[in-house]
Amino acid sequence: MNNKYNKKKYENKKKRESSSIINIRNFHNWIKSEMLAECCTYIRKDKGIKNIALLDLAVGRGGDMFKWKSNDIKLVMGFDIDYESIHGENGAIDRYNKNIKKYNDYND
Ligand SMILES: C[S@@+](CC[C@H](N)C(=O)[O-])C[C@H]1O[C@@H](n2cnc3c(N)ncnc32)[C@H](O)[C@@H]1O
Repeated sequence: MNNKYNKKKYENKKKRESSSIINIRNFHNWIKSEMLAECCTYIRKDKGIKNIALLDLAVGRGGDMFKWKSNDIKLVMGFDIDYESIHGENGAIDRYNKNIKKYNDYND
């Protein structure tokens, strides 16, 4: 499937950090982190569900992977309209496998 996301070569970290919209990106990211943490607390404490599974309908390259990890979400199913974001170099699967190799406890 062709969309604007696979036409755009993803920028590297250095380029992203020098972006003029870095502050709004960081703010947006912080909001997502807070929302996810709040939802997880609610599901665990109020609903008594320990093992949370997450369905991400626009997972992209898995940019939220560390948020899943830090909220102890052990099962994630990700979909994306863009094949390359999932299967391509530095796509979600590639990044997940790299994280497993890099961090011993990543898959715990
Ligand atoms: C800005 S990225 C966000 C990726 C990821 N959630 C993150 O936070 O890093 C938006 C993603 O939505 C995907 N997308 C856009 N329209 C979609 C659709 N109709 N169905 C599934 N994915 C879609 C794009 O391919 C892209 O990967």
